Amino acid sequence: MQIKNICCIGAGYVGGPTMAVIALKCPQIKVTVVDANKEKIKSWNGPLKSLPVYEPGLMEVVKEARGRNLFFSEDIAGNIENSEMIFMAVNTPTKKEGDGAGMAADLSFVESCAKDIAKFSRSDKIVIEKSTLPVRTAEKIKEILKENSKNIHFEILSNPEFLAEGTAINDLFKSNRVLIGGDDTKTGKKAIKKLVEIYSNWIPKEKILTTNVWSSELAKLASNAMLAQRISSINSLSALCQKTGANIGELSIAIGSDQRIGPHFLQPSVGFGGSCFQKDILNLVYLCKNYGLNEVAEYWHQVIKINNHQRDRFARKIIKHFDENLKGKKIAILGWAFKERTNDSRESSSIYICKKLLKNGAELFIHDPNLSFEKVIEDIDQHRFSNDELVKDVNPLDFNKISEYNLEGIVLMNNEHLYLNFDWKKLDLDNILFFDGRNGLKDHEIPNHICL
Ligand code: UDX
Ligand code: UDX
Repeated sequence: MQIKNICCIGAGYVGGPTMAVIALKCPQIKVTVVDANKEKIKSWNGPLKSLPVYEPGLMEVVKEARGRNLFFSEDIAGNIENSEMIFMAVNTPTKKEGDGAGMAADLSFVESCAKDIAKFSRSDKIVIEKSTLPVRTAEKIKEILKENSKNIHFEILSNPEFLAEGTAINDLFKSNRVLIGGDDTKTGKKAIKKLVEIYSNWIPKEKILTTNVWSSELAKLASNAMLAQRISSINSLSALCQKTGANIGELSIAIGSDQRIGPHFLQPSVGFGGSCFQKDILNLVYLCKNYGLNEVAEYWHQVIKINNHQRDRFARKIIKHFDENLKGKKIAILGWAFKERTNDSRESSSIYICKKLLKNGAELFIHDPNLSFEKVIEDIDQHRFSNDELVKDVNPLDFNKISEYNLEGIVLMNNEHLYLNFDWKKLDLDNILFFDGRNGLKDHEIPNHICL
């Protein structure tokens, strides 16, 4: 089978950028991204400035490949039928109800995706799990494909995505590793080879790791869990620093300078956010419990508990500095996205911390250069703290006019370039408490600078 056409189901944060880069690097292959959300497809086909995903470098890649060999389409059936290789990049949120609610991954989108693939396929296909999935999901997908099709051979591969938002394009161009898991059978090995060939167009062969399917599925969960664990470790120590007079920034450098430990993911923060870390760890915890590994489950669960504790601790710190009463206090929130350089606010710590501040009576002025105030309100609605009383205290902040708001507090939630490079001396900060949730402004001379 020669791969001439690739279809990706799911035009989200993972599917969109990943397929754009595959199309750019493999001009000989036609890559079509489909999505059940027609509006999203329209935006992917619309002006480059308003693509549904904001990623540095993405616009340029789409500009070059779109219409050449990169297409965004509403036609799910036709594109499944015409492709030899199909990526599944639909979302896998934490289950809201039923068995495993609040922990296990909701696989309903993946399952309906598999049903569509079975229904519309007329020839053999290689089906690739791009979404993050619990171990042994491939088995389930295989069953669904088999039950819903006739005389078609489907080979399932796992090819988890390790890209981080904000650096997705660079991560895709220069991946540390590409992981491909497949069956140790003749057809399995052939399918792996086909996918290796695609990535070899730009990734050095030694960086393409091939494993069995289960290792590959688990590697994604485990990698995210270990990254998050480092953040929770350093954040837990920030609490101890506060009590002892040690400095968490200095501690982080001292620990990270040991080459065996390394400096990455040791930046103290208001707590990690994003669509992956919490969801994947909960998924891992659920899996461990499912196999009766309760101590292992508890070990990983602690990473999430510390993260929640850190958010709580930071909100408490702000409230405490205002003598336990934020009534009528005007506070600026800088950064709504879960980190800098992205318009994604899923599981952002800002949401949780602001909820606590609002409940204590604060009047918030929220700014993020990468997402709209409408998105802020949408998040507030979704997190059910928009009873009229609270939402009336949420306002947009025009950063250019920050000096005109009579603020009593400023809270830095993410390390956006704009905030780190702002000349804070321009503001009269003497009467403002400055809460630095990232220790990002430690080199600025800021009076009343309250760090983690
Ligand atoms: C991805 C992964 O798939 C997820 O498992 C991983 O843990 C995080 O990254 P992401 O790309 O961030 O998810 O999700 P999202 O941006 O929500 O995109 C998913 C897309 O799939 C959406 O555009 C949605 O409309 C589409 N979708 C979902 C379908 O086309 N069909 C469905 O049945 C469900
Ligand atoms: C993560 C993984 O890095 C990526 O490999 C995987 O594919 C998806 O999940 P992402 O969620 O996009 O990527 O962002 P990441 O840069 O890992 O940051 C996650 C959260 O941790 C952010 O809220 C970030 O601010 C926080 N963080 C990160 C810290 O608090 N301290 C750090 O030292 C690093």
